[in-house]
Amino acid sequence: MMATSPNPAPTSSRAYLSRRYHFSASHRLHTDAFTVEQNRAAYGKCNNPHGHGHNYTVEVTFAGPVDSATGMVCDLAALDSFAQTNLLAVFDHMNLNTLALFRDRVPTTENLTIELVRIFQSFSAAELTRVRVEETGNNSFEYTLRPAPSPRAQQPSESEVRKG
Ligand code: NI
Repeated sequence: MMATSPNPAPTSSRAYLSRRYHFSASHRLHTDAFTVEQNRAAYGKCNNPHGHGHNYTVEVTFAGPVDSATGMVCDLAALDSFAQTNLLAVFDHMNLNTLALFRDRVPTTENLTIELVRIFQSFSAAELTRVRVEETGNNSFEYTLRPAPSPRAQQPSESEVRKG
């Protein structure tokens, strides 16, 4: 019979913190680089000139050492404040096609995810490791940042977005 023992203590004080945010926005998938027929072929009904809306859910994950004094990776209130200013105030109830950041790019959720990586990388209290965006109950997109000696120096590359 095996002796029962308490769970081993974690060998690292590093932990991951995830937080979810919700916003509603509209978009139209369309590029001027394509003909009318090519746009319809590529985007189907998402190319409808009147656009359509989604209730997006964004989940951001940060890693960092657990502060010995606070017991936290970072202050959630500070993260919420950052998200209010840099995510919700920018995207909620907006037409994504009208935003400057999508002036030259189709506002697909792949491209939105890449933008959100850039945005949340500037939250300096912890290290961004993942951004996941749910577009519908069936579609999600995520970007995972590779562990590296200087993770904050990483730049997102479009080839790394995974569709789910
Ligand atoms: Ni859509």
